[in-house]
Amino acid sequence: MEDPIVVAEGLHKRYGDTRALRGLDLEVAKGSVCGVLGPNGAGKSTAVRILATLADPTEGRASVAGFDVVRQAGEVRRRIGLAGQSAAVDEYLTGRENLRMFGRFHHLGRRRARQRADELLERFGLADAADKPASGYSGGMRRRLDLIASLVVDPEVLFLDEPTTGLDPRSRGEIWQAVRDLVAQGTTVLLTTQYLDEADQLADDIAVIDHGRVIARDTPDRLKAQIGTRLDVVLADPADAVRAAGLLTVRAGRGEPDLSGERLSLPVGEITLPEAVRELDAAGIAAVDVSLRRPTLDEVFLKLTDRPKETV
Ligand SMILES: Nc1ncnc2c1ncn2[C@@H]1O[C@H](COP(=O)(O)OP(=O)(O)OP(=O)(O)O)[C@@H](O)[C@H]1O
Ligand SMILES: [Mg+2]
Repeated sequence: MEDPIVVAEGLHKRYGDTRALRGLDLEVAKGSVCGVLGPNGAGKSTAVRILATLADPTEGRASVAGFDVVRQAGEVRRRIGLAGQSAAVDEYLTGRENLRMFGRFHHLGRRRARQRADELLERFGLADAADKPASGYSGGMRRRLDLIASLVVDPEVLFLDEPTTGLDPRSRGEIWQAVRDLVAQGTTVLLTTQYLDEADQLADDIAVIDHGRVIARDTPDRLKAQIGTRLDVVLADPADAVRAAGLLTVRAGRGEPDLSGERLSLPVGEITLPEAVRELDAAGIAAVDVSLRRPTLDEVFLKLTDRPKETV
């Protein structure tokens, strides 16, 4: 990779008997958005905490902006922002006071801290609520305040650990827009998420991690292309599902079909829509709907992490 700004090599992290990371390798290109996807417990937060200097690796090394996260933690901290899974907002302070406090905490002078707070509140649409205590903010506003608090020092690299978990679609959209604005200005973003559409929307590259290792690393499009095309069929009679699945699997299947009532979905190789319809017709199976589509990232993720949907 040209010009990686985040580099992790063979990171291991043990907590007693728990092996949170088991040889995690990751590079993030400068100016890009890297989405780190993985099921609960995969090691996403652990990786972010190590890169953000909040935890030391048991083994391996990592650098951010050319500085070692263990030996040069201070240099790293000056160049990064972190918005975590648990918001760092003080409920009793107003939005403006929260941001000023962060500025002072990061050694900005009093005047600079004030200016910076005003600037950020304006830019990220919190100016109207700036002088209300954060306890009165909605979940989305709080998360936005947490996010902009991580921008007080204008970071080169921003780490976002599940920035939109639990937010409604509108608030998620607002956070996404804020991230896009930052990226447009050259900030590199590493975000963890369990929402595949979030990674699809924001990330240039996706690292899928499971059991403390990166198991896939590619663009969203190429990850989807890896599992090919999906053929979706809605049958007139659910009793035909197994027979239809068998028929289409033999004809063009590239993996296990999903069956649910009258619905059948199957990863396929070379088959056109008319061919699929003809196959079904010839076998006397009536279909209400037949379609070919790209897989969703959900399907890619489930295939890669090899878990049943309920546990993801
Ligand atoms: N401070 C800690 N002490 C002990 N075990 C920990 C600690 N932090 C993480 N772990 C364990 O390490 C593993 C990875 O946890 P981590 O929080 O990195 O996962 P995650 O991918 O962020 O999960 P989630 O999606 O739930 O946030 C889990 O088994 C977790 O229980
Ligand atoms: Mg986590």
